[in-house]
Amino acid sequence: MAPGPTSADGQRSADVLVIFGITGDLAKVMTFRSLYRLEKRGLLDCPIVGVAVDDWTLDQLIGRAQESIAGTGEKLDSDVFKRLTARFSYVQGDFADDGTYDRVRTAIDGKIDPVFYLEIPPFLFGRVVKGLAGVGLTKTGRVVVEKPFGHDLASARELADDLHQYVDESRLYRIDHYLGKMGLEEILFLRFGNTMFEPIWNRNYVSCVQITMVEDFGVEDRGSFYDPVGALRDVVVNHLLQLLAAAAMESPSRGDPETLRSAATTVLSAVAPGDPKNYVRGQHDGYLSTKGVADDSTTETYAALRLDIENWRWSGVPFFIRTGKHLAVTQTEMRLVFKPSPRLGFGLHQPGGEPDQLVIRLDPSTGVQVSVQAKRADAMVPEAITLDRLFADAGGEGPTPYEVLLLAAMQGQTARFARQDTVEEQWRIMQPLLDNPPPVEAYEPGSWGPAGADDLVADCGGWQGPWTA
Ligand code: BG6
Repeated sequence: MAPGPTSADGQRSADVLVIFGITGDLAKVMTFRSLYRLEKRGLLDCPIVGVAVDDWTLDQLIGRAQESIAGTGEKLDSDVFKRLTARFSYVQGDFADDGTYDRVRTAIDGKIDPVFYLEIPPFLFGRVVKGLAGVGLTKTGRVVVEKPFGHDLASARELADDLHQYVDESRLYRIDHYLGKMGLEEILFLRFGNTMFEPIWNRNYVSCVQITMVEDFGVEDRGSFYDPVGALRDVVVNHLLQLLAAAAMESPSRGDPETLRSAATTVLSAVAPGDPKNYVRGQHDGYLSTKGVADDSTTETYAALRLDIENWRWSGVPFFIRTGKHLAVTQTEMRLVFKPSPRLGFGLHQPGGEPDQLVIRLDPSTGVQVSVQAKRADAMVPEAITLDRLFADAGGEGPTPYEVLLLAAMQGQTARFARQDTVEEQWRIMQPLLDNPPPVEAYEPGSWGPAGADDLVADCGGWQGPWTA
């Protein structure tokens, strides 16, 4: 068979997508819908093989796809759905059994650029990759894995060592779905595509940076997954440090994926290890009665921390991160808080007035907001006014992160995936906080989290926002 088209990264497009764990939960809530939406946009052009231990027929798989897509609220067009499911086939097999990999090889016989998407628990990654390597399928194939990539620095390294025995780093695609969000690229474009931002994006003008990712819902039915993990490992070490990297990195010198990924790793390598004194953990009331949670659990459902970047651009500028479940709103944003203007002879300076701020919002929709001081002709003093724009109002709905990432994996765009050195920097920064966690403070569901989190930012004017309107 002739090779498929080549992407801008010099990678050939996948000629088959093989999904391990297609009968599981992630496929149900994310994958089928993303594939459907890609099909609808005319972006799928290869067969899709599902692999799982369940003894399902192809019709059962198609039934699950239909129910899953409809369950996400997506309106189902029957022609698109037929086109999508015409690509499906199913291989039943236990991942511990070598025969499964023989059957996968037979199912994709003749294909030269397979993508293997492992929607399975990380403890199975090594076994599956070994099985694929055993039948010669990792030589040209790409392997896509889901977080968590370890539970600390040592286990992240062990996992990578295990996988590297069978597949080269250049063909390992680690999903951090924040790299599929519109916001990350937008941050880089806003920062470096506008002359008005870059000159003030540094310690001379910025007093602090605040990254907020709050959710008004709890761990729901994911108690047994979440309880051994907690907020720091669930979203800070991966998603929010990626966001910090996008906010703080230097302009990548080239557009190739390795240079882009290196720019993120470089700035993370300048972040000082987290200090447990600057780390606040909270647990919402009622968490202990969540199904799957230990009766005496001390897992944090809220985390707030301060990080410091030791380089010329950011020295002395604290980066604050807060995240939590069952808080007042659902919102993700990155906010630059600027230094106050100087006291002026003609009396404009307002001690204690709101600082100027620039907000980039990622969720629930993307947008940008600038907050500045302005004075009405009839007022005595200036007041903060906001100038904002949601990107959806300027260009319509964008693709969901999983659509972006599945397509990127099939096209071989590595920039959208986390490289091992980045992952290790992320764990290095977090490791002291994992080793010496402070006790958890209780907080009320629907609140803004534990009181201790306010003390963390007291010297920087307190938490600002988020921009909810
Ligand atoms: C996941 C976490 O990685 O990200 C969840 O496991 C969290 O706990 C989710 O709710 C948030 O993603 P998003 O895209 O809704 O911000």
